[in-house]
Amino acid sequence: MRLGILELSVLALGVFPAQAISQSLSSQPLSGAMLGNTCAGCHGTLGASKNEIIPPLAGTDPAQFASTMRAYRDGSLKGTIMNRVARAFSDAEIDAMAAYFSSLPKKAYE
Ligand code: HEC
Repeated sequence: MRLGILELSVLALGVFPAQAISQSLSSQPLSGAMLGNTCAGCHGTLGASKNEIIPPLAGTDPAQFASTMRAYRDGSLKGTIMNRVARAFSDAEIDAMAAYFSSLPKKAYE
């Protein structure tokens, strides 16, 4: 099969963006907001869940948040879901999310 200039550029585009994306992600500063957005599905938009089973995270005390996350991570605090979630995060990532969620108002957005 002969490749024309169009096919070659499509192939090239298929390879280079992936490399560019992984480089740009690793050079991003640690963002509590970016990490914290992954919690929104259960804890509500901007951490302001109105759900009675899943507690809101907005306006939470940062030290309390960080120690709860570490306790879920090491299994000393048992939850239904949070042990798995917490295992995904490093200390620095937990601290970044603690700062982020404590900075948000407790007001429910949903
Ligand atoms: C699939 C749903 C789900 C996701 C996603 C989720 N959580 Fe949770 N979270 C829960 C549930 C349910 C609880 C109650 C404890 C349990 O059963 O695990 C909880 C409890 C917590 C608590 C304890 C709050 C308190 O007042 O006791 C913290 C802190 C927390 N989650 C942080 C997070 C963070 C940070 C993320 C995102 C990185 C996250 N959660 C993602 C469902 C979720």
